[in-house]
Amino acid sequence: MRILFISLVLAATVFGYEDEPLAYGNFPDGFVWGVATSAYQIEGGWDEGGKGLSIWDVFTTDWDSNGKVACDSYHKYKEDVQLIVNLNVTHYRFSIAWTRIFPDGVGETVNEEGILYYNNLIDELKRNNIEPVVTLYHWDLPHALEEQGGWLNADIAVWFEEYARACFVNFGDRVKFWITLNEPYVVAHLGYGIGIFAPGISGSGTSEYIAAHNLLRAHAKAYRLYEREFKNQQGGIIGITLDAGWPIPEDDSQPNIDAAERNIQFDLGWFANPIFSENGDYPQIMKEKIAEKSQLQGYEKSRLPEFTQQEIIELKGSSDFFGHNFYRGFMVADFQSDIGSISQDADKDTFVYADPTWYTTGSSWLNVTPFAMRSILNWIKTTYNNPKIYITENGVSDKAGNLDDFGRVYWYKHYINNVLKATMDGADVKGYFAWSLMDNFEWNAGYTEKFGLHSVNFTDPALPRRPKKSTELFSAIVRSNGFIEGLIPCE
Ligand SMILES: *[C@@H]1O[C@H](CO)[C@@H](O)[C@H](O)[C@H]1NC(C)=O
Ligand SMILES: *[C@@H]1O[C@H](CO)[C@@H](O)[C@H](O)[C@H]1NC(C)=O
Repeated sequence: MRILFISLVLAATVFGYEDEPLAYGNFPDGFVWGVATSAYQIEGGWDEGGKGLSIWDVFTTDWDSNGKVACDSYHKYKEDVQLIVNLNVTHYRFSIAWTRIFPDGVGETVNEEGILYYNNLIDELKRNNIEPVVTLYHWDLPHALEEQGGWLNADIAVWFEEYARACFVNFGDRVKFWITLNEPYVVAHLGYGIGIFAPGISGSGTSEYIAAHNLLRAHAKAYRLYEREFKNQQGGIIGITLDAGWPIPEDDSQPNIDAAERNIQFDLGWFANPIFSENGDYPQIMKEKIAEKSQLQGYEKSRLPEFTQQEIIELKGSSDFFGHNFYRGFMVADFQSDIGSISQDADKDTFVYADPTWYTTGSSWLNVTPFAMRSILNWIKTTYNNPKIYITENGVSDKAGNLDDFGRVYWYKHYINNVLKATMDGADVKGYFAWSLMDNFEWNAGYTEKFGLHSVNFTDPALPRRPKKSTELFSAIVRSNGFIEGLIPCE
């Protein structure tokens, strides 16, 4: 696989990690601080309250661990709210399980018990002066809809619009901050591309482009519905949360610089360009590359679908902010993929890897690269005309889950400091949400990779939560809205 050894040595010398000096300073007034979770990862209560089966309930059927109980937040939500209060944050980002609202995904009437659960949670948050930030879709599609093709069925744009309507109608009097989709890249690429996430469909370079297309169409429909029928009266904001790592060119040769740009256009521009750019369409480089390769591969037309004029109009500008989940940087080099290889990764013609000098974490895909936070925020600022940005997730895993979590202390200090530096560079960052409130079900890693600010003892049936050391540093940054000399050491 290319001249990997030489690349790594080169990378380590050119881009080796060094602790750069941290900056003292405050975040802008009104900066939003929060913590985040998602329904399938924490709720449990998988067959309670009239809930239907989701694709994750089905996908994990034969696994050793699953989200049937998880952190049991379905019953312990009041305790969770107190953890949030104790962190001194003002916002809590959680997701609604579509299957609690419509057990079969669609229907004439909502499931009242599901509405009641979220009403109770929202009311408990409001009583404690915590603003709810609600994600409508964090990967737990109703299984009944997957049986009709799920995100591959074009009708899903309307199914999602109707589910969004039920949420706006029932919760919009109190919820003023909506996120339509969480990480559509992961839904498409891992769910319908390489097939390692539910629903486990393999169709990289083919099905995943269709899933992504329908995710974008569905997002736009929900955004326009809110804008048309709810925004004036309810006065909230609504947007999308994307994700992508930051590509660092292997060296400063033009082919590698171009490869890094191409990589982020394929990962982030894929979803961001239709929404945040002037042309309301996929990035030009994606359209060209996929069309060219599709032709050479004998396809009658490009594997990348096309939007109608109407869809482009709906998509363009369909987000009140740029939500971004940010975790890591990686090295990128130019690489000519084999034309016989049909996949989204092959379409990029890049080669990516981690620099061996970077700290590792509890997740194989995750390295500690705080400087990359500043870089990607500046890239988003420049590429999409300075949008309002919320970091809707950022955090780190370990396997130990110990309370004296020095790695997480380092992570939050350095990553949040790089958000601060990006604001000083002029990026319009409006808020930051730590992932995650507590250890939880980390998808196909089960309970082995722990991202929590609080630990949860999953072998104790009472599932007790305990604050880790990192809560103290995070909370101190939140309380002072920045890094204040004498309060938070920057060395
Ligand atoms: C932070 O939270 C604690 C626990 O709820 C509370 O006692 C304290 O007053 C809060 N501090 C600030 C500055 O809000
Ligand atoms: C977790 O709970 C189990 C069962 O109650 C207990 O034996 C164990 O000591 C607990 N672990 C920690 C780290 O508290």
